Amino acid sequence: LVVKVNQPKAEIQPTMWGLFFEDINMGADGGLYAELIKNRSFEFESPMMGWKEQKNPKASVLVLNRQDQPENPRFIRVKTEGGKYGLTNEGFRGMGVKQGVGYDFSVLSRNVEGNLTLKLELIKPDGQVLGTASLPLNSTDWKKHSVRFTSNGTEPKAKLNVWFEGTGTADLDMISLFPQDTWKNRPGGLRADLVQLLADMKPGFLRFPGGCIVEGMDLSNRYQWKKTVGPLEGREVAINRWNKEFKHRLTPDYFQTFGLGFFEYFQLAEDIGAEPLPILNCGMACQYNTAEVVPVEELDPYVQDALDLIEFANGSTDTKWGKLRADMGHPAPFNLKLLGVGNEQWGPQYIDRYVVFEKAIKSKYPEVRLISSAGPNPDGEVFGFLNGKLRSLKADIIDEHYYRKPEWFLENATRYDDYDRNGPKIFAGEYASQSKDVASPENRNTWLCALSEAAFMTGLERNADVVHMASYAPLFAHADGWQWTPDLIWMNNLQSYGTPNYYVQKLYSTNKGTKVLPILSNNQLITGKDQLYASATWDEPTKEVILKLVNASSQPQTHTVNLEGVKKLENKGKRFTLKSSEPGAVNSFDQPKQVSPTEEELAVKGTKLNLTLAPQSFTVVRVKVVK
Ligand code: AHR
Repeated sequence: LVVKVNQPKAEIQPTMWGLFFEDINMGADGGLYAELIKNRSFEFESPMMGWKEQKNPKASVLVLNRQDQPENPRFIRVKTEGGKYGLTNEGFRGMGVKQGVGYDFSVLSRNVEGNLTLKLELIKPDGQVLGTASLPLNSTDWKKHSVRFTSNGTEPKAKLNVWFEGTGTADLDMISLFPQDTWKNRPGGLRADLVQLLADMKPGFLRFPGGCIVEGMDLSNRYQWKKTVGPLEGREVAINRWNKEFKHRLTPDYFQTFGLGFFEYFQLAEDIGAEPLPILNCGMACQYNTAEVVPVEELDPYVQDALDLIEFANGSTDTKWGKLRADMGHPAPFNLKLLGVGNEQWGPQYIDRYVVFEKAIKSKYPEVRLISSAGPNPDGEVFGFLNGKLRSLKADIIDEHYYRKPEWFLENATRYDDYDRNGPKIFAGEYASQSKDVASPENRNTWLCALSEAAFMTGLERNADVVHMASYAPLFAHADGWQWTPDLIWMNNLQSYGTPNYYVQKLYSTNKGTKVLPILSNNQLITGKDQLYASATWDEPTKEVILKLVNASSQPQTHTVNLEGVKKLENKGKRFTLKSSEPGAVNSFDQPKQVSPTEEELAVKGTKLNLTLAPQSFTVVRVKVVK
């Protein structure tokens, strides 16, 4: 094999390898967003969903409605004449709590009559008490009351009892419980273990909030970013698009509280060093569902949402939306450069709407690059139609999605080799290799699937002049509440692990490089002959050559790699190997690193590397050039 180090080609965009986030599989509520109370504001379809009354004949609970707060009208009124009375919250499939960690309880309340004190009890499923606190309710106006207490044990399925002591009547809303050990210890923040897994990938971008959730089952259910910013109690809860039965799963308790809203997404992107990439509804609901669209002449509010979002992210604090960003704690701009118009939309109706957005956004913010949709099927007619139209419109970046079998990924390592170099750039925005039917319980994150993605990604990297961004999808899944398989990271209430696919993504994004280098065998691109796939890059800051080699065969392969144009290499390089002898191998909560990379020193002599590639393995090599 030959790497032409003296013939660097296209630049690799800093955005090349990124993340796709969607609130599917309990990705946000019950997952990344660390709130432990389910239905804290009583706004789920059924107001007491998640809550159980611990009855007493001398006490009652009523659900009431506030006229002055239309986005969060419901609250509860508890009246008790003494005796043991309380409400128990079940959490999201239980609450994950840890020994020695502090828990912040808070509630908005007002006394109507008398004085009540809340007695809080964090309990195990068998009733054993893990932590307690007392919180007197002492205000006749709505006021936030809070208290911190510590758990004396670790339990994945805890519950919270809220007992009412004393005699009287009180109104309560926004009953909340957060662990203290959130990411960056932010009150009301995100689960630290999950953010750490993302940060470790050093992603180039963070796409949010989806996925189909952007579109909604119908337009009333579409994602509306303005309803997800500002004070928590003013964020209108919505039914999750994945709440209804989807293929194999029914999750009727799946709602979006938007505690993880657009401000928090921007903040997360900034924290992990990723470019923010919001995707907005383009006036079309999910075409798999109702296919409801807004008449083109009535698109204005949708387009205005896009313009206002750019102001929210980038505008000065003197502007309406820039001021809101500052009021929420971030006066500096978020530097939004990328914006998606619609998700997985197709047909002339998409083009009709896209052009309206494009005109309005480009005339006010020409520097913002727009992501447009290529529909759901990369091989079909729909895709061809959209691609043609978007090319003639000189679209910036087209978002392609592929949920296909491992064989498709292996065959498509050449997909972009002959692409038109003068048209729009490509965002491989959602892809995942499927071991069985999409979203089925048997569909697993196997090593074979991950390996086929690694092979496919050599083709993305080799074509970095066309492919500017790529992300695996979906990102998260909760073992007790998923709708879709496979997924990059699995979690339960206390643990999380990266799949073999996660390690493939991480190896690419942490070994990106800044320029493509040609890597050839007998003067040919290495795209699957003898089941070998390869790409190479130059990393300017570290002066390293980075090789990625996939041996998809069941035999070892030995290759000599000649680094052409290099006079001298440091005598020690690094080699990362991801492999398994079992194509069906998976990671799990018990064996989270069964398929994970090993790192070794690579002895280097001269400018040739001798590499033996294990059967079914993915190898990354870094060697430093000495001047
Ligand atoms: O990633 C899961 C879903 O797949 C996304 O919501 C959608 O865009 C695609 O169909």
